[in-house]
Formats: sequence, C-alpha cells, structure tokens
Amino acid sequence: VVVRATKYDDELIQTAGKIASKGRGILAMDESNATCGKRLESIGLENTEDNRRTYRELLVTTPGLGQYISGAIMFEETLFQNTSSGKKMTECLTEQGIVPGIKVDKGLVPLANSNGESWCMGLDGLDKRCEEYYKAGARFAKWRSVVSIAAGPSQIALRDCAYGLARYAAIAQNAGLVPIVEPEVLLDGDHDIDRCLEVQEAIWAETFKYMADNNVMFEGILLKPAMVTPGADSKAKVPPETVAKYTLKMLRRRVPPAVPGIMFLSGGQSELESTLNLNAMNQSPNPWHVSFSYARALQNSVLKTWQGKPENFKAGQEALLKRAKANSLAQMGQYDP
Ligand code: 13P
Repeated sequence: VVVRATKYDDELIQTAGKIASKGRGILAMDESNATCGKRLESIGLENTEDNRRTYRELLVTTPGLGQYISGAIMFEETLFQNTSSGKKMTECLTEQGIVPGIKVDKGLVPLANSNGESWCMGLDGLDKRCEEYYKAGARFAKWRSVVSIAAGPSQIALRDCAYGLARYAAIAQNAGLVPIVEPEVLLDGDHDIDRCLEVQEAIWAETFKYMADNNVMFEGILLKPAMVTPGADSKAKVPPETVAKYTLKMLRRRVPPAVPGIMFLSGGQSELESTLNLNAMNQSPNPWHVSFSYARALQNSVLKTWQGKPENFKAGQEALLKRAKANSLAQMGQYDP
C-alpha cells in the first residue's frame, strides 16, 4: 500500500482552482538563461542578468495583467530576483492576484539507446528544491519533458517521459506545489493529424497510469499538452475547428474530469493561430477549464515592440496585455478577430 502525504491537499486544490479560473490563463516566462538570451539577442540585447531582469520586470509589472493572467511560471533566477526598484518579482505578481510558479526540471539530455531522443533531468534533490521554492512564494511548478513524433517515438522514450512526470508530480504535491504536467509532443515532422492523435493518446495514457501508480491527486494537478495538429512540415493545413475536434477527442479519451485545468502550450504556433485554436475549443462546455500557458504566443509581439528601449517599455506592456486579453476571450469562447 502506498501512502500519500496529505498535508497540502486542500491547498493544492485551492491553488489549482485559482489558476484554472474563468477567463484567465498562465504566462510562461520561465525560459532558461540560454533561451532567454536567444530572445534578447533577437532584439540586439546582450544576455546579461540585468537585461533579463529588465525584460521580466516589464512582464510582471504590466498594469491590469491579473485580469487575464492567473499564474506566471518563472525560471529560478526570477523567483529570487528583485525589480530595479528593489521589489520582489513574486510580490509584483501576487499583488495582481497572479500565482507565482517555478520551472523545476533541469532540462533535456540524450536518452541512451533511443532514436536520438531525450530524457528530462531534475529528480535528484527535487524535494528539497521544492521546499525552498515554496518558501520563496511559489505555489505551482512545471516540468517539461518532450516526445518526438519524428523520432518514432520509441517505447523507452515514452515510458521515461511518463514516469519522470509522475515522480515529479508526486514530489511537487508533497511540497505544496501544484504540478503542471507537460509531456510536450513536438510540432516537428511531416506527420498528419491522425498520427499526432495516436501519439498523444499513447503518452497521456502512460502518464496517467504512472501518476495513478504514484498516488498523485488528480484534483491538484494541471496539464500542459500540445494541441493535436499535423506536423510543422506537413503540407496539410487544418482549420481551428479541426484542431479543436481532434484535441478535445484526445482529452476526453484520456483525461479524467477530476483534473481542473488544461493549459495548452503554443509550441511554435503563431500568436493568432494559438488564440483561434483555443477559442475553437471553447465553443461548447468542457469537463475542465481549457486555457493557455503560452510563452512565445504571448511574448513574441512584446519583444518586437519593446526592442530593449526604455521609451518602448510601456508599449511592450500594452502588447502583452493585448495578447493576454485575446487569449482570455478565447478561454471563454468569445474571441472575435
Ligand atoms: P511555448 O508556448 O512557447 O511553446 O512555451 C510554452 C512552454 O512553457 C513550454 O514549456
């Protein structure tokens, strides 16, 4: 018999419910220093701690953001960082009613004897780190593992991805953090939408099996799936209604209604595409809160508008608010371009 620690159960349910609240979704701003550096370099900025701080400060101090954003995922550096005026980044979020979150995985490395696939590091010492993150104000966590359709995917890669997610989810819950469970099925490849559905069904089946084995409390988790679409190199272009039909079919077949929220990643879709697809999924009621946890689809136009220039700081925040509002409407099925 496996015994689950229950100390945080009520709080986990409460936190998950707060994040999965009507008309709101998650701002993913947890790029590693390397990835954040690439974003900054795309607008001619050097990848320094100061520049990363200024950019994250722009995001978290956007006036009115809390109306559309219920949670923000940070990289460890940001969780412990202050704004230029000395205020904690986490405080900027909580005063707007936004729950602070933390990326807790340690990134992807090659998986031996697979088809060039990867596995996600970070379980060693995760319990201690989660306790520290909770003390610093984080109330939810993210762990991103990937599945490559183009590479197979191999059975060992699927199993490792699912088992790692389940172990992480159990550890995060025991430390009071709501785990976002993210097996990202990559968009890369020339496969059709039916193949994507098949692989997504396989990875979610396995992930839920291991989460059940590990006594994860489903009422206290959030999912971060990729939408079910054809591969990026496929010639087929499908309308939002088709993406919605396939994605909801996958979710209904694999995800228990106990799970409060489905927070999609954008995965390389354009800002408009990801909003339209989310809107299509919310044209009729779902058993869960179906919403967003976008990074690129919320930040692309912010970076383009800001350009790293102090005089564009406000305009950058307005660009963020515009995308956040569009996705908020899409969460309620009311987006009209
Ligand atoms: P994208 O929305 O840019 O895919 O990023 C979401 C995310 O946080 C992936 O883990």
